[in-house]
Amino acid sequence: ELHKHPKELDLASNGPFGKFDLAQLQRGFLVFEKVCASCHSLNLVSFRELGALGYNEAEVKKIAKDWPVKQPVFDEKAGTWGERDNIASDRFPKVYYPATGVPPDLSLITKARHDGAAYVHSLLTGYAEQTPEEIAKFPGAKTPEGSYYNPYFANLNIAMPPPLTADNQVTYSDGTNATVDQMAKDVSAFLVWTAEPTMQTRHQAGLAVVLFLLLATVLAFGAYQTVWRGIK
Ligand code: HEM
Repeated sequence: ELHKHPKELDLASNGPFGKFDLAQLQRGFLVFEKVCASCHSLNLVSFRELGALGYNEAEVKKIAKDWPVKQPVFDEKAGTWGERDNIASDRFPKVYYPATGVPPDLSLITKARHDGAAYVHSLLTGYAEQTPEEIAKFPGAKTPEGSYYNPYFANLNIAMPPPLTADNQVTYSDGTNATVDQMAKDVSAFLVWTAEPTMQTRHQAGLAVVLFLLLATVLAFGAYQTVWRGIK
């Protein structure tokens, strides 16, 4: 079996008490902006939702305005398509990549794939050379022209060129060392947030419900004992 299961990934958002690490989400957004956005959209997320990561309104407006991929607009009179700068209420626009067409939207990728965040991290750091033994054993799996061998990808050969290739490909402003592994972790954490921005609220509500039910159980037991006191 050549296909590999993702490596474990320890994120602050993991588990039933998981919380988002906002500094990490901001770093992950930076990786997305500088590296992934030239090919991938986040069509279920709007620019203004970045406010939840700690950016203020002016910063969000500037991010939208400077976004390298523009919003398509249809000119009714001329009957032609044009484009305009993004505004805060726009979704992250779709991207056309000449080699393959439109690469998959990443809004929900961490939900769409098993072990989503760990998968994205392993995929980004998992490009490898196919060994001669592997090619000899599974000739059908030989990497074709225009594809890249990656044992974490379900069919082993992916059309995405390795996007993270050098340390410090992006410049972190919080002092974190931007190794390839760190950038891959951070963008994976960010893509957990895009897929479920309300996860932390859900965890908190769940905790409150469980605590309430525990309390209700204690009170119900007390009431039961009071009602039946003195009766054999
Ligand atoms: C596919 C992530 C940058 C082109 C994918 C997939 C993920 C991903 C998770 C889906 C794999 C699957 O279907 O399971 C990222 C991240 C990036 C990034 C996090 C930035 C760090 C890029 C760039 C390009 C690109 C810069 C273009 C040069 C593609 C293409 C596919 C793809 C063409 C489809 C591959 C296939 O189905 O064979 N990417 N990507 N990606 N990506 Fe990226």
